[in-house]
Amino acid sequence: ARTRRYTFNVTMATVTRLCVTKSIPTVNGRFPGPKVVVREGDRLVVQVHNNINNNVTFHWHGVRQLRSGWSDGPSYITQCPIRPGQSYAYDFRIVGQRGTLWWHAHFSWLRATLYGPLLILPPRGVPYPFPKPHTEVPLMLGEWFNADPEAVIKQALQTGGGPNVSDAYTFNGLPGPTYNCSGASDTFKLRVQPGKTYLLRLVNAALNDELFFAVANHTLTVVQADASYVKPFTADTLVISPGQTMDVLLTAAASPSSPAAAFAIAVAPYTNTVGTFDNTTAIAVLEYDGAPQQSALRSLPRPALPLYNDTGAVANFSARFRSLASAQYPAHVPRTVDRRFFFAVGLGADQCQSRVNGTCQGPNGTRFAASMNNVSFTMPRTSLLQAHYQRRYSGVLTANFPAAPPVPFNYTGTPPNNTFVTHGTRVVPLNFNTTVEVVLQDTSILGAESHPLHLHGYDFFVVGQGFGNYDANNDTAKYNLVDPVQRNTISVPTAGWVAIRFVADNPGVWIMHCHLDVHLSWGLAMAWLVNDGPLPNQKLPPPPSDVPRC
Ligand code: C2O
Repeated sequence: ARTRRYTFNVTMATVTRLCVTKSIPTVNGRFPGPKVVVREGDRLVVQVHNNINNNVTFHWHGVRQLRSGWSDGPSYITQCPIRPGQSYAYDFRIVGQRGTLWWHAHFSWLRATLYGPLLILPPRGVPYPFPKPHTEVPLMLGEWFNADPEAVIKQALQTGGGPNVSDAYTFNGLPGPTYNCSGASDTFKLRVQPGKTYLLRLVNAALNDELFFAVANHTLTVVQADASYVKPFTADTLVISPGQTMDVLLTAAASPSSPAAAFAIAVAPYTNTVGTFDNTTAIAVLEYDGAPQQSALRSLPRPALPLYNDTGAVANFSARFRSLASAQYPAHVPRTVDRRFFFAVGLGADQCQSRVNGTCQGPNGTRFAASMNNVSFTMPRTSLLQAHYQRRYSGVLTANFPAAPPVPFNYTGTPPNNTFVTHGTRVVPLNFNTTVEVVLQDTSILGAESHPLHLHGYDFFVVGQGFGNYDANNDTAKYNLVDPVQRNTISVPTAGWVAIRFVADNPGVWIMHCHLDVHLSWGLAMAWLVNDGPLPNQKLPPPPSDVPRC
């Protein structure tokens, strides 16, 4: 194991997409940001200098941060923001994880342009549990806004309505030829040699869209999800939620005919959102060596994608994931549970006068809000981890996040009469090493919608999922406790539920939130406060001297 050092200079840089030239926050002037490469067991030190006129923090999405919670990055949870002109060094080890993760800003909507891949290679000399690919290709799916994303969310919060949607889906920052004013130079192209196999390291970095992904005439083999190996399975179409990562093998064995060919790599949204969304299919190019010059980018063979609201296809795909669970990569699935939680997850309304006055453009003149167990998360003004370390909770948080909804109702049927959320910075305290089960139940209060829930500081096992209301008597018996997939982000199915388990062996304060940024902005978050264990190596260390203060 060695120490890998990176420097992130956060600077404004000028980029042009869709004929719009604008100045965007970048890391080291690059969009998307630099690739960070480590080996499992390495220490990673990233020195951040904030040279933009906004606060910033960075999150290493999916990194467990064992006893290094000060480097986790969500603003006001584990640190105060790095203010303009300030610096902070993130310093942590990569323990027991390998595959693809990613990094992104974790302040407001800055991750729209501040993101990049984080690749964790096996320790030197250790092979992959699948055939060695010819080449590895990080492929980040994102969203491009012609407007300033900070202005988009600011306006939405002021009016109480939904935010404007993005203007393009992107492949490594490039929108591709299906958009106006976008051509060959704005198209991501993957050159392949016939007969070779490629490892696509996929990341959904989009702000607000779950995505379908497919390559025309090619089948994909999924081998890794969220930096854990899975039992390989093949699929024509993938579904990737924001925050999730997936490594897939693609063999350049185009059928039916000549190797001299080019094919579309396509993404399109999966959504049940009421109201507006962008139903564009975006395209990149898979081009075989020796293919004739492609003049007709728009007429490439395209894959068939499911309908934008094909919830059945999404559920079938997500049910196919299994941990590798081999002798070398065992799955340590908790068989018994110390504490059970039931979280109702979804959208709700907020009273118009409760924040900014004026016209409220949410449902029936209210403001949009989102909640778990009807608590809409209020971002604190100081770091929860700092407050926890000093045991100064008063005025910052309350340790009374409800273990179940205040009033049970038919979550996937008729919504309750009162759709208003409550507000608070409420956390669940956990003793060290508590085994936790959480059933995440989607609600249909303002329409059923899938929510990609992300837990910081842990991987969890996805032991069950289903449609309708969770039924403890019948559904628990059907759990997979043998080889459930281990992830850090899982979509709560539309009008359904998902059950996860984890062992609280990482002391600190860990946010769990919807990875659709608009829902996070509306309060779809809570936090776990995991106490120290008795042994010295079970305690949260003191804060680094350069950790930003509020
Ligand atoms: Cu990828 Cu809290 O985020």
